[in-house]
Amino acid sequence: MQELWSPICDQLGIQYPIFGFAHDVSTVAAITNAGGYGVYGATRRFPQEIKEELATIRKLVGDKPFGVDLVLPPGMPEHNSRAAIEAEIPQGHKDFVNHLIEKYRVPEATVPGMRTRFIRSAEIEREQIQAVLESSVDMFACGIGAPADVMRQAKEQGKTTLALIGSPHHVPRAVAAGVEMLVAQGYDAGAHTGPIGTYSLVPQIVDAAGDIPVLVAGGVATGRHIAAALAMGAVGVWMGTAWLLSEEHQGHMHPVNTAKLKAAGSADTVITRSESGKTFRQIRSGWSQEWEADGAPSPLKMPYQDVLVGDLLGAIEEHDIEPLIHSGAGQSIGYFNEVKPVHEIMERLVAEATDVLRRQPSYLR
Ligand SMILES: Cc1cc2nc3c(=O)[nH]c(=O)nc-3n(C[C@H](O)[C@H](O)[C@H](O)COP(=O)(O)O)c2cc1C
Repeated sequence: MQELWSPICDQLGIQYPIFGFAHDVSTVAAITNAGGYGVYGATRRFPQEIKEELATIRKLVGDKPFGVDLVLPPGMPEHNSRAAIEAEIPQGHKDFVNHLIEKYRVPEATVPGMRTRFIRSAEIEREQIQAVLESSVDMFACGIGAPADVMRQAKEQGKTTLALIGSPHHVPRAVAAGVEMLVAQGYDAGAHTGPIGTYSLVPQIVDAAGDIPVLVAGGVATGRHIAAALAMGAVGVWMGTAWLLSEEHQGHMHPVNTAKLKAAGSADTVITRSESGKTFRQIRSGWSQEWEADGAPSPLKMPYQDVLVGDLLGAIEEHDIEPLIHSGAGQSIGYFNEVKPVHEIMERLVAEATDVLRRQPSYLR
């Protein structure tokens, strides 16, 4: 019986050419154990946590491959100093955040938010990279930036190197940095996203990439999308939004957020810089609307916006401030409206893609 396959399966030792990004250890392990390639989003984790969490995933998946993803934007401050960054935040922005706290009666957080647990800096990035290099993880993926020396060291440790890009212009730089695989991530995608739609983007990146394998990200939700990705010349897909409503991921989600994601259609996401300072697609909520309203300040650059809003974002979830609760999510959220285990999501994708590919010859005569 024929089944979904692409050359990348043999190259990386996986069953299906389906890569799954998640910020949750058990979701990542479940994606790998279901025959895909799980990738752990670790950019907001302390180096010691990265070490421990990658070891946990290894235990859960055995010899099967999995990856880790760090966001390594250039131009971050050298030191992990919150005070230095706070001193540069304009008073008008602080006033706006205080106005949100008063308007929604948000009590103070008892622990720092995800974005303010530490402040993104070159110093902490180096330690995170070290933790990854010393781990047994099979892939080093870069969400933003792909420094050549880091890619070289990762390859020396036998790790596959991969970068997410959103424009054909990014291909030469990524290839020169030593990246071995590319993710062409289109505008539909959840979280940090560029302006080019997935369909417009992918064939351009495939052409520019030559022999470098390309995965499609942004809007992939069904087996039909997977078949289309292969038809566009990619070797597989890279999915993020699909796993948010997996059973495994629920430990990581606020129940109000889960309810909002279940109810959302593809038109219910917006792109805002109010989350991190970089363009970020998320579910529409009071949060995104407040930052779009007349008189709202323009969000600051990363990491200033992180510091400005990080504690408040943490407090919103800690104290169940319903209107402001939200998360990153892509336009594909419209296809997901129930919580299901990862293996069911995967089985459905594979069955549908297999079926579509089997029927393809009928389009020739
Ligand atoms: C909630 C959320 C958070 C994300 N965070 C990151 C991240 O930290 N690093 C990264 O490289 N990609 C991140 N992504 C993007 C995914 O890696 C992936 O490219 C994207 O979700 C694919 O599009 P889709 O959402 O339409 O499946 C995130 C996506 C979501 C939904």
